[in-house]
Amino acid sequence: MGHQEVQEYFDFVLPLVKESGKVILEANDYEIETKEEIYDIVTIYDRKVEDILIKAIKTKYPTHKFIGEEESSAKNYISELTDDPTWIIDPIDGTANFVRSFPITCISIGLTIKKEQVMGIIYNPFMEELYTAIKGQGAFLNGKRLQTSKQTNIQKCVLNYELSLARNDKLREMYLYRFSHLISAIMGIRSMGSAAMGLCYVARGSMDAYQCDGLYPWDAAAGVLIVREAGGAVSDSTAGKEFDLMNPNFIAAASKRLLDQLLAVEKQADDERLAALLVKKANVGCK
Ligand code: IPD
Ligand code: CA
Ligand code: CA
Ligand code: CA
Repeated sequence: MGHQEVQEYFDFVLPLVKESGKVILEANDYEIETKEEIYDIVTIYDRKVEDILIKAIKTKYPTHKFIGEEESSAKNYISELTDDPTWIIDPIDGTANFVRSFPITCISIGLTIKKEQVMGIIYNPFMEELYTAIKGQGAFLNGKRLQTSKQTNIQKCVLNYELSLARNDKLREMYLYRFSHLISAIMGIRSMGSAAMGLCYVARGSMDAYQCDGLYPWDAAAGVLIVREAGGAVSDSTAGKEFDLMNPNFIAAASKRLLDQLLAVEKQADDERLAALLVKKANVGCK
């Protein structure tokens, strides 16, 4: 894979993404359809944007593969990542924001070649913000080079943290433990409802870190590359595990030092929770 090949794909898809932004801006029917879970919603615009992008790219590059949120939902299956050029598309990230006219919402499209993230484009048409990255060439906002905040001190960290998985009865305790440890270790916490935008805010230095578990490839395919190209670090939210694009549970941080401190706090929370659990079990056993 040469730079030129990726640049050619980038030049082709960029105007398409901007054109799709108009579909979002011109939206006037906010009827919501619920997918399998009540919190998993879709509008006609999610499907429209994904359709436009996939059809146009397929026509130009018939051998390319696609992992799109709405086509994956429709077939109830996420295709495996192969070595072929694969476009990973979230037509609207932050649908719950979109239907409330909360403008933290965007189109996110990433490209992998040989399973490697090589390009990312995130476009927020409401704010006219276009975030782009090609591997090895830096990250940009409307053409201006991006750099993370370079924050290295956890006590000064503002973290954008989405606790979506805490709604799960089996996982809630773990997330609440982690949350309570984090909140006393950092400066402040935010939650904004778009993973792709959350990653862009780290890339541009507006947030020092972003964390969300239980996401899908389309939430992370573009944004993770944008963070890394802006000098940030990303890993799985379990210390010692690498970020996995097909199973994104992750922390993105402005610097590797900050990332390691955040991971250490969460590990401490996990260890304390497990120790408390063991004590509880032992006490029950004594009765
Ligand atoms: C959602 C957003 C949100 C995250 C949810 C995602 P969607 O994506 O990225 O930030 O917390 O888990 O599902 O459904 O609006 O594309
Ligand atoms: Ca969704
Ligand atoms: Ca999403
Ligand atoms: Ca979406």
